[in-house]
Amino acid sequence: MHMTRLIFFIAPLFYLCLLHSGAASGVEIQAFTGVIVLDAEGNQITDGSPSQQVRYEAIFTLAAPGIAIVFGRVTGDGWSENLNPRLRIGFMGTYNVTWESKIPLFARGNAKVDITVYVPFLRQLLTRTAFFTIIPIDADYVGSDSCKTCHSSIYDSWLNTKHATTVGCEACHGPGSAHIATLSPDKIILDSSSDVCKQCHLRNNGGVIEAENGFIVFQQQFNEYTSTRLGKYLQCATCHDPHYSIDLARKQAVKLSCRTCHFLKTIGLGMQFVKCESCHMPPAVKKYASTGIGPYRKGDMASHIWRIKPAAQPPQMFFGPAVVKDAKGPFLTLDFACLSCHNGLDSRLYDFASVQQTSTLVH
Ligand code: HEC
Ligand code: HEC
Ligand code: HEC
Ligand code: HEC
Ligand code: HEC
Ligand code: HEC
Ligand code: HEC
Repeated sequence: MHMTRLIFFIAPLFYLCLLHSGAASGVEIQAFTGVIVLDAEGNQITDGSPSQQVRYEAIFTLAAPGIAIVFGRVTGDGWSENLNPRLRIGFMGTYNVTWESKIPLFARGNAKVDITVYVPFLRQLLTRTAFFTIIPIDADYVGSDSCKTCHSSIYDSWLNTKHATTVGCEACHGPGSAHIATLSPDKIILDSSSDVCKQCHLRNNGGVIEAENGFIVFQQQFNEYTSTRLGKYLQCATCHDPHYSIDLARKQAVKLSCRTCHFLKTIGLGMQFVKCESCHMPPAVKKYASTGIGPYRKGDMASHIWRIKPAAQPPQMFFGPAVVKDAKGPFLTLDFACLSCHNGLDSRLYDFASVQQTSTLVH
């Protein structure tokens, strides 16, 4: 990041020097050999499969010292991806610029990679294009029971999860018949990104966190977590191992604890034994039922918003049928964060004003 800024700062100076020396007049793209698509091992490919790791590469030659800006776009049937601008400054010679990427889980058919090399001084602009085809794994759905023989421990733990009733192995791994016939790892999808989870744990296009009657609507963890600052850093599977039940095998199901990253956080006010999740992932989501009345209400599922805003009054968390986002994103109010315990039954302090007064002293 800093490096890029530095280069942008230096670039104009470099130009002035070139102008004075007269060398710049010669800058041009001598050859734009082309664009290629490579697999993870670096072999050139003309077809790939969903969720495969790929690299897009442009190769070109500068005829004299100069500056080139290289950028592009990948377009497929119903999806696209920007290849962000890269700067190359240097002497005459051959350059290659690469972008690491992953073919989306649901990509099908033909895709096109357009990459442009731009030499600003001469306003010279050259584009080359490569095509490749995305071939879905040719297989049939065979059911989770077929996976049991070889992956018995995963199967047994999966049986205990809430997924087991409706979400089989192949909902996340794609159809399995070809994998079973060949035992090849290439014939089954292994995708640790949130794209897999987004199939179900998403509402609308992900942009709005839907709300109803003062609760977050269930089954939209993707909407919640991608709108937080944390959401930029983590995928669902960074924290979750979806083969295990949170209720019955929490250690395996939640791979990464909050303390793994926030190892310096301390908790005061005599609540050292209170889990991070109790305040930061309170039951602000309602699926079936809520309990309590007025400010003491609890939903029945954990929220994925994490940030608590002590200054906000409870109604400020919602506006109409949506969760409010301020400049830092969405937030939880203290009624959810604190009053789920401090409700006058489980512990003391049972009004909003007193938890509000003490909330900034927790850490
Ligand atoms: C007959 C035995 C057998 C059956 C049945 C079987 N697998 Fe596998 N599976 C394997 C083996 C062996 C590997 C390890 C392959 C390797 O790493 O070379 C594997 C690897 C995998 C991987 C990891 C792939 C990777 O890229 O590392 C996944 C995911 C997977 N299996 C899912 C499934 C699912 C889902 C089913 C049921 C539809 C299933 N398997 C049925 C034997 C089996
Ligand atoms: C809710 C989605 C989901 C379901 C359902 C699911 N998996 Fe997975 N599976 C994943 C993800 C995500 C990973 C990659 C985990 C990671 O990156 O840590 C994975 C990894 C694997 C692997 C390779 C790594 C390992 O842990 O050995 C195998 C084998 C596998 N799954 C088999 C299965 C089988 C068999 C079932 C059904 C009994 C199943 N999975 C059900 C999402 C799922
Ligand atoms: C095909 C739909 C589908 C996909 C794909 C899916 N889920 Fe789920 N998931 C569900 C449903 C339905 C439930 C049950 C929800 C409930 O209880 O309200 C669930 C429940 C869960 C639970 C609670 C399970 C328990 O027993 O502790 C976790 C955690 C979870 N999903 C994470 C994930 C992750 C992570 C992924 C991606 C790797 C994923 N899910 C992919 C539909 C899906
Ligand atoms: C993989 C590392 C990692 C894990 C695990 C993790 N966090 Fe974070 N957390 C971060 C990073 C990175 C940020 C963003 C820091 C920033 O932008 O200032 C962050 C930010 C936050 C914030 C501030 C959000 C805001 O918008 O002000 C809270 C609150 C938080 N995390 C709580 C938690 C809780 C609770 C857990 C456990 C459920 C957790 N974190 C797990 C890395 C992690
Ligand atoms: C008793 C409730 C409670 C517990 C337990 C709790 N927090 Fe917090 N946390 C808060 C409140 C309230 C704030 C907001 C404080 C503020 O804005 O002044 C906060 C703020 C944060 C922040 C963002 C502000 C900052 O200081 O950087 C992070 C990150 C965070 N907590 C992480 C954690 C982690 C990790 C744990 C578990 C080790 C944890 N919290 C346990 C109540 C709690
Ligand atoms: C920072 C780690 C972290 C990330 C990232 C994360 N989760 Fe979670 N998730 C948790 C923890 C911890 C719990 C258990 C909360 C509790 O104690 O009740 C949980 C609970 C859940 C539950 C069960 C909720 C319930 O109350 O039954 C589902 C479903 C779920 N997560 C789905 C997802 C999905 C889908 C994603 C990605 C969009 C995701 N999570 C991202 C940490 C995370
Ligand atoms: C998981 C339940 C739980 C949550 C959530 C929780 N607390 Fe507590 N808190 C307790 C328990 C238990 C005690 C111990 C003494 C008691 O019974 O009041 C305590 C003690 C306190 C005390 C000291 C009270 C005294 O009289 O010594 C303060 C202040 C406090 N909590 C504030 C908060 C605030 C603010 C929040 C939300 C940011 C919060 N708590 C969230 C369970 C919780």
